[in-house]
Amino acid sequence: MIKRFAGLTLATLLLSASLPAIAQEAPATAPDTVTVHGDRPGPKYDKRLFGQFAEHLGKGIYSGIWVGTNSKIPNVQGYRSDVIAALKAIKVPLIRWPGGCFADEYHWREGIGPRGKRPVKVNTNWGGVTEDNAFGTHEFMNYAELVGAESYVSGNVGTASPQEMAEWVEYMTSPTASTIANQRRANGRKEPWKLTMFGIGNELWGCGGNMLPDYGADVTRRYSTFLKVPEGQKLLKIASGANVDDYVWTETMMRKAGDQIDGIGAHYYTIPYDWKKKGAATGFDEDAWARTLSKTLRMDALIVGHSKMMDKYDPAKRVALLIDEWGTWYDVEPGTNPGFLYQQNSLRDAMVASLNLDIFARHADRVRGANIAQMVNVLQAMLLTDGARMVKTPTYWVFDLYKDYQDGTVLPIDVQSHYYNKNEWTMKAVSASAVRGTDGAVHVGLTNVDPNKATTVSVKLDGVTGATVSGRILTGTAIDAHNTFDAPETVKPVAFTGATLQGGVLTVAIPAKAIVMLDIK
Ligand code: AHR
Repeated sequence: MIKRFAGLTLATLLLSASLPAIAQEAPATAPDTVTVHGDRPGPKYDKRLFGQFAEHLGKGIYSGIWVGTNSKIPNVQGYRSDVIAALKAIKVPLIRWPGGCFADEYHWREGIGPRGKRPVKVNTNWGGVTEDNAFGTHEFMNYAELVGAESYVSGNVGTASPQEMAEWVEYMTSPTASTIANQRRANGRKEPWKLTMFGIGNELWGCGGNMLPDYGADVTRRYSTFLKVPEGQKLLKIASGANVDDYVWTETMMRKAGDQIDGIGAHYYTIPYDWKKKGAATGFDEDAWARTLSKTLRMDALIVGHSKMMDKYDPAKRVALLIDEWGTWYDVEPGTNPGFLYQQNSLRDAMVASLNLDIFARHADRVRGANIAQMVNVLQAMLLTDGARMVKTPTYWVFDLYKDYQDGTVLPIDVQSHYYNKNEWTMKAVSASAVRGTDGAVHVGLTNVDPNKATTVSVKLDGVTGATVSGRILTGTAIDAHNTFDAPETVKPVAFTGATLQGGVLTVAIPAKAIVMLDIK
């Protein structure tokens, strides 16, 4: 039962249980209040919290990113041009590749050298389709450079040796005249790439080898030992993290291998119903809206739980918690390959994104990276493609609205909000976060999850000097409003004129089911 109220703390639950129902159903006109503490700057909102996950899965890489140099689809050296431009526009800071489950069966040597000579394999995790290895190390590392993103490569712990992993890192990073570095040069890349993060396997508790926590931690220690980069370079070593609320995994990894790593992952997907029947991406009812948003709010409690385990061994917070995989997971679109995880993306997904980006702000001292799953054509994607056509999803637009948070300073906030209720689902109607951007402006993100009622939010700006407010709003006419290839601009931000600033207080009139980003200068 508690699980159903994932958006609430236990204290709130107890309190609300003792209040008459009317207390949770304040009229929409009751002012909700947000206080932004500009005078108490918090941690950095790491740009890596906007990271993306790109796996060899369905059309995530092939046709989504890579069309090949002979394609009629406009491309730059084989990478589709529209996707590059769209990703650059939201300043994608980090890309995690090649998996996912794919990573622990991936042998990097099969993805280098002349493309026509690379072995053709079977993608055993995702649809059993052939994988011709056309997209390999050069294609990925060059792509990250082209987009302007840092690279996060996940190694193969499940089916490869520590030597294979160490040699991959050498191939990518060595400036020497070693045989392996020269092989990279012979394959077309003279200078080493900048490799930012390296994942020591993926989901070692599951598709990465079905390891138990102690064994997983031991293996992580062992593999980590051999991940070496040249003098002057820093490689962040990331341990495969826990599944959802497996705090034993995090505790064991930190206790046994915490001194060998710089970060530990955690994976949490928002699934409206259950793994058997996850629910449709569009055409859903308000119960599905409310249950999805309520379930995604569980992220907060999960971060608190994993952080508690990490604090035991690392109170100084040297090791980062990375939400390596997050986002919605629905039933695939009818008629598509079930192994390709292709789903539409609606205003509900936009809400999932903004709620999570707000949660990350609350925990930015420990959560210093996250990769939404996945970047193109898979799960909660930024972009969908169909042949030469591409659409930007509502989730893309949230990443666009929030992009000025990147590397800014989190400003603590207090949120007093009435509650939105639907059936057994209850949550604060207003979610918010605030960041002082590197541009000096204060950016305040406000989400009204209530699909039926507008609200007025009074935002008190303590210690924030600013004379002007401007903003953008993302909303739609229906809870499942979405963009299609024929109507690609149904859900798109527009200028927001519902905010006024007077005497250090912003009064913001937010329509139902809307996300607003305000810039105070
Ligand atoms: O994102 C799809 C899959 O979900 C990933 O391959 C795996 O890590 C997770 O279970």
